[in-house]
Amino acid sequence: LLLMLSSRRRREGEPPLIKGWIPFLGKSLEFKKDSFQFLQHLQKYHGDVFTVLIAGKYMTFVMNPLLYPAVIKQGKQLDFHEFSDAAASTTFGYPAMCTGRFPGLSDKIQRSFLLLQGSTLNSLTLKMMGNLQLVLQNVFFSSHVMKRECDWREEGLYEFCERVMFKATFLTLYGQPPQINMEVHSNLDSKSWLDALRDNFRKFDAMFPLLIARIPIGLLGKTKSIREQLIRFFHPNGMATWTCPSEFVQARKDIFQQYDTLKDMDKAAHHFAILWASVGNTIPACFWCLYHLLSSPQAFSVVRDEIIGMFGEKEPGSILKCDKLNREHLEKLIYLESAINESLRLSSVSMNIRVVQEDFCLRLNPHCSVCLRKGDIVALYPQSTHLDPEIYPNPQQYQFNRFVENGKIKTEFYKSNLKVRYYHMPFGSGATMCPGRFFAINELKQFLCITLLMCDLQLNAGQQSATMNKSRAGLGIMPPENQISFRYRLKINSMER
Ligand code: HEM
Repeated sequence: LLLMLSSRRRREGEPPLIKGWIPFLGKSLEFKKDSFQFLQHLQKYHGDVFTVLIAGKYMTFVMNPLLYPAVIKQGKQLDFHEFSDAAASTTFGYPAMCTGRFPGLSDKIQRSFLLLQGSTLNSLTLKMMGNLQLVLQNVFFSSHVMKRECDWREEGLYEFCERVMFKATFLTLYGQPPQINMEVHSNLDSKSWLDALRDNFRKFDAMFPLLIARIPIGLLGKTKSIREQLIRFFHPNGMATWTCPSEFVQARKDIFQQYDTLKDMDKAAHHFAILWASVGNTIPACFWCLYHLLSSPQAFSVVRDEIIGMFGEKEPGSILKCDKLNREHLEKLIYLESAINESLRLSSVSMNIRVVQEDFCLRLNPHCSVCLRKGDIVALYPQSTHLDPEIYPNPQQYQFNRFVENGKIKTEFYKSNLKVRYYHMPFGSGATMCPGRFFAINELKQFLCITLLMCDLQLNAGQQSATMNKSRAGLGIMPPENQISFRYRLKINSMER
């Protein structure tokens, strides 16, 4: 196999081929070190389309967003599901769905994703609203905290986002396990089951890039037993006692129930996968949104004024009763939305992957087509679009209002005088686009609205700027590499409950 891989030659009509000199690994190391720089460099020498050998796979990168539509609409010969099914099943520990053992399961799961959108999104959004406030209040009012609510507290900004979003998202999607009622009502907050779940989740998440790269879990220290504990948490017997799951999670429980071939731990593993999907990217996204706002006084004041203009600041405790923080009102906050889009533009490194189903030539535009081989991968790398100076002038700079034009959300961006259809792709593209994207954007807006309405917040002085951890290239939102600390306290008027 090694010999076959290293002896591959470029054929007529195929893109330039870059194999490197290490058999199998090819250019893996350079790609892993800084994929953006690496691909930019190759684009400069080889043009917009080229094939690179990475970890035994020939990957054809299409770097120009004006060529993306040809790839995205080519559903038949460029498939995604087989790849994602294989990657997700080994990563999360459930049997692959495409094996024929679970007829119709994959389609049913895809249909369940509709419950993250449309009318059910309204109830999810309202529920998230209540949970976010509950969680944030819990931070301030739990009895074990010796401080008064108005005292400043210091914490890592990432840890704060993680604590709040993990719990609020969990409660919104899965409902309340019996213990959590105890925790809220008795204000007991010793190391709860939720802290334990979050700790394990963090450890698993740190290994996620290796698991997705198909490194056998047995080689990754304690990861296997950590994953087992995480999966066990979602055992159907336990979940049956949780109250008020979302319609989405309930529908998935009902679907799995129809399959005798799925063992209880397989069902649990599917539920665990959704936990990862729902918070794995949202937590770092919250971090970057809040961090950028706190680092830019102008952005902070415009966005905060917009939020206060919509929801008001006057009545003590009014946030709790406020039914205005629903979807319709959130849509009107254009500076907030622009600031979120901008943070996602800067921090997103997701890669869109398609697997070539048969040898064929892909027509990229009227003047250019490339021949592809069965089994190769075609990859879009949206970070190169997000940081393209022709589309986004000064692309490395955070400009909170970049996506606002004439009082509306800006949707027209140009390259070479042509309109770019896929200019912002943190959620992927086409048929495989993230089904949770509307919920995610609402969550981010709600998180920012509530923290800005309820708290005074400041980054600690004298620390380095946040940098991105590039080791997760290709996998969503990059977490920060360095620790950023901040201080916060409850605003005086929201304390008078
Ligand atoms: C898939 C991004 C939040 C559920 C994806 C994909 C991306 C993505 C890039 C792969 C799409 C592709 O390859 O074309 C994000 C980002 C989020 C976020 C940046 C937050 C800022 C959420 C949330 C949920 C969710 C809150 C809710 C449950 C999913 C699911 C899939 C997915 C289930 C797999 C879909 C499939 O298998 O077809 N997400 N996501 N995501 N996302 Fe999200």
